[in-house]
Formats: sequence, C-alpha cells, structure tokens
Amino acid sequence: MPPPSSTPGYWDDRYRSEPVPTEPGIFVTDELLPLLGEPGRAVDLAGGAGRHAIWLAQRGWEVTLVDSSRVALDLASRRASAAGVDLGVVLADLTSDALPPGPWDLILITHYLQRDLFAKAARLLVPGGLLAFSIATVRNLDRHERPPRRAVLAEHEAPTLAGDLEIVFYEEGWSRAGRHEARVIARAPATGGGTERGRSRASADAR
Ligand SMILES: C[S@@+](CC[C@H](N)C(=O)[O-])C[C@H]1O[C@@H](n2cnc3c(N)ncnc32)[C@H](O)[C@@H]1O
Repeated sequence: MPPPSSTPGYWDDRYRSEPVPTEPGIFVTDELLPLLGEPGRAVDLAGGAGRHAIWLAQRGWEVTLVDSSRVALDLASRRASAAGVDLGVVLADLTSDALPPGPWDLILITHYLQRDLFAKAARLLVPGGLLAFSIATVRNLDRHERPPRRAVLAEHEAPTLAGDLEIVFYEEGWSRAGRHEARVIARAPATGGGTERGRSRASADAR
C-alpha cells in the first residue's frame, strides 16, 4: 500500500517520480477566467508545480505560489523562467505556517483540502476579491482511489466553506476529466478598506 499523502516527503517523491500536470484545469480556464477582472495580485495555495500560477502570470497577474514541496516549487520556478514570467514562490506548510499576508485579488485552491484554510484565506481578500476552489468530493471514490477519503469533500459541503463570501459560481459533478468535484467561486464583500484597485473593481462589479 502506498504511504499516506500526509507522510513527510510524500509530495516531493511524487513530483520526482510521476508526470507533473502542466495544463491548467477547465475550472480555471473556462469558469474562473470570465469572472476575473483586470490582473492583480493572486496567490495559489498548495499550487504544486505551478500549472495555474504560471497560467495566471502569463495573463499579467502578479502571482505567489505556496506549497510545502520544495521539489514542486523548484519545478514551478524553472517552468516560469522558461515561460518568461515572474513567479513568487513560498515554501510553507499551510497547516502550521502563516499565509502570505496579501491582500489578494484572487486566492486559488485546487485539489487540496484543509477545511480551516478557507476562512483564513477569505480574510486576506481585497473587497470584491475572489476565492476560487475546486476539490474532489466523496463520490470521486466510486471511480478513483485518489485522493483518499480524508482529502475529499462531502457532497454539497463546498459552498459552506465559503463562509460569508457571496457565491458567484457553484457546480458539483463529474468533470470532463472524469473526476467528481465541487467547484466554487466566491466574492468578498465590496465594503470596507482594501486597496484602491479592489475598491474600484468592486464598484465596477456593482454596475
Ligand atoms: C493534488 S496536488 C494539487 C496541486 C495543484 N493545486 C494543482 O491543482 O495542480 C496537492 C498539493 O498540495 C501540496 N500540499 C500538501 N500538503 C500541504 C501542506 N500542508 N501545505 C502546503 N502544501 C501542501 C502538495 O505538495 C501538492 O503540491
């Protein structure tokens, strides 16, 4: 039996031994893209080898990639250099280290489940900023062994993780890639402080 994914070194070993996904997911290219405003500051949490971080950087976003795998971050840095884009990388364990403070116009989490992360992340959004996540649900186990049960959402759990944010997109079902996922995009309230950019985008959205 393979070691659990919480084992230290598990992800480094996987990034060394298995093909690394480099194409962005349809959630990001088809569902998130139309909701994005002008490029701003984005953080991709547990973003692995940077398939989404690099895709965003190529579209003008200033992106920080956070992951606990040094191997993944090195791969991402090399791929970003080859693509001619800047990418900030932060080696951090999201279960114990502080999140990069932001504020962020976009926070992305794909295929990583840590239930206390969503509320922490939401507090770091600019007014009107987006939290977008796509995570397998328990139904995925009907067809696939991975991710394991502790790393999947209950059915219809996803929207509850968005807390007080306004859900602007929610879908749950089998993806074209044959995975059962929940996909949520939620927006921070357009009130309060935040950056000028965040405020101006929020007022544009309200029109
Ligand atoms: C299934 S991969 C998803 C990677 C990326 N989000 C994507 O969609 O391609 C899960 C990622 O979570 C990272 N990870 C696992 N536990 C973590 C932790 N405690 N803190 C930060 N990253 C973690 C792993 O290194 C791995 O890159």
